[in-house]
Amino acid sequence: MSVVKSIKLVLLGEAAVGKSSLVLRFVSNEFQENKEPTIGAAFLTQRCSVNQTTVKFEIWDTAGQERFASLAPMYYRNAQAALVVYDLTKPGSFIKARHWIKELHEQANSADMVIFLVGNKLDLVEEDEEQRKISREDGEALAKEEGCFFMETSAKNSINVNDVFTKIAEEFLKK
Ligand code: GTP
Ligand code: MG
Repeated sequence: MSVVKSIKLVLLGEAAVGKSSLVLRFVSNEFQENKEPTIGAAFLTQRCSVNQTTVKFEIWDTAGQERFASLAPMYYRNAQAALVVYDLTKPGSFIKARHWIKELHEQANSADMVIFLVGNKLDLVEEDEEQRKISREDGEALAKEEGCFFMETSAKNSINVNDVFTKIAEEFLKK
């Protein structure tokens, strides 16, 4: 009989970086060109198999718009994993990601938490390198400094999205 383990995951990051699009890709393997901003937060689930174990992700996709910022602690407080997302073409979103990671270290139960830093919209950068505003090295350096995992993704072209969730599941099972 297979074992099922549940993991609560929260997504954090500036508005429009692609949090909901990463979740939509992971949960439904779809992409929407003009996805509407999240209001408050959305809850979704998806399963992922690692060896003999099924990991059931319980995903809280928070809203990045500033007016919802005060709600975030409610969602990250008892999360076992956090996906902190920025947009590779938006410098401000990288600064915001740094703030979120610091806040997780200060406020959340971060010792037991798997924190993953994700630079999204890799497709835009692959199309036109001029669009890239944050180097891969800067992303890697921040992750290393903060003890996080790191990947660059595209929700649009489905690059590394499943890999991020699989890696989270694997690390979660090691804890
Ligand atoms: P909030 O809910 O407001 O916090 O935004 P969000 O972070 O959930 O962003 P969302 O997923 O709604 O995406 C914002 C816009 O970026 C949408 O128009 C998406 O289609 C687009 N988008 C998301 N991911 C990608 C990507 O990987 N590549 C490209 N080119 N566009 C993307
Ligand atoms: Mg959203």
